[in-house]
Amino acid sequence: MTTAAHDPPALVGTSLEDVDTPALLLDLDVFERNLEALDAALAASSVRVRPHAKPHKCPDIARRQIARGAVGVCCQKVSEAEAFVRGGVTDILVTNQIVGAPKLKRLARLACAARIGVCVDDADNVEDLERAAAAAQVTIRVLVEVDVGGHRCGVAPGAPVVELAAKVAASPHLRFDGLQAYHGRAQHLRRHEERRAAIRAAVDAIQTTLVLLEARALRAEVVTGAGTGTVEFEAASGVYTEVQPGSYIFMDADYGRNLGPDGEAVRDFQQSLFVLTTVMSRARPGRVVLDAGLKAHSVDSGMPLVADVPGAVYTGASDEHGVVDLRGGGSLALGQKLRLIPGHCDPTVNMYDWLVCVRSGRVEEVWPIAARGAGY
Ligand SMILES: Cc1ncc(COP(=O)(O)O)c(C=O)c1O
Repeated sequence: MTTAAHDPPALVGTSLEDVDTPALLLDLDVFERNLEALDAALAASSVRVRPHAKPHKCPDIARRQIARGAVGVCCQKVSEAEAFVRGGVTDILVTNQIVGAPKLKRLARLACAARIGVCVDDADNVEDLERAAAAAQVTIRVLVEVDVGGHRCGVAPGAPVVELAAKVAASPHLRFDGLQAYHGRAQHLRRHEERRAAIRAAVDAIQTTLVLLEARALRAEVVTGAGTGTVEFEAASGVYTEVQPGSYIFMDADYGRNLGPDGEAVRDFQQSLFVLTTVMSRARPGRVVLDAGLKAHSVDSGMPLVADVPGAVYTGASDEHGVVDLRGGGSLALGQKLRLIPGHCDPTVNMYDWLVCVRSGRVEEVWPIAARGAGY
């Protein structure tokens, strides 16, 4: 089921030049190489892979990740988990706190149809979760979220984790599964050594916490975390049992600014996601206006990059317009189509109903972005 407000901007078989804009494009060759690159990067490690589905929100992609050996997916919201269960995914970890009776009821209902895990960082939330699970007569797997440096959700490592884990373990309809230890801030630290050091500190904190848990006979079967920027470190840590990178399938301009061990831009994964846009005005010399503005891509991590026109710089976005400065080079005709590299893939994808999948200049598939939207 999809709740798309619009028809897709292209049908299967359409040539790329005829795709209507703005459209969200996936270069299938690059996407498939990114899937392979993650497998290759983790080949020497025994960690399980549970990719984060928050960047793609697309069951077609989740099914491809699972077919390659992923144990399931992560979601950030109940609404996403619902869309993935409808799309046939049977093992989901909600890497977030779910608060409030309506959402907890929906989460518990999902646990009737799929293996569902969720994170907690508050004793009251554990009680609410237990009540919802008991009412639905299900068992929900629970991970205590540890703040390993991201300073978003999560309790401090050590004793606070043990206290919450004990409360979960004492709840008849909850199962203490382990620890959620995602270090969000580390993902975009530009230098490789900075990212390595951040995850080394996270691993130290988890190890200390695991010792305390064991002393209380609380077994953390799962220790999970990692994003695209740090997955190599968590996978090699010997402490993380699962990893949850998300953006590696798409990449974006922000990830493109991360540096590898040689000080050069990281090239482990390549850009597969683009916004296709049309030049709609060239009324002023030295610049053109595109039909892709704030409602076509997210600018929280900076402006998009112009992919195929050297010298062209996307300088400003308003609701339905994007301004490209051509004084550094390049020329663009009225009606010409070009590709933008989004600043941040997740919120950009969330704006679209459809992912137009292209290979060799032709639309090969059109996938619904079934979990998109602001609903939690
Ligand atoms: C909890 C959690 N895990 C994993 C990820 C995946 O990170 P990335 O998309 O940078 O690979 C995110 C992204 O924000 C996240 O919030």
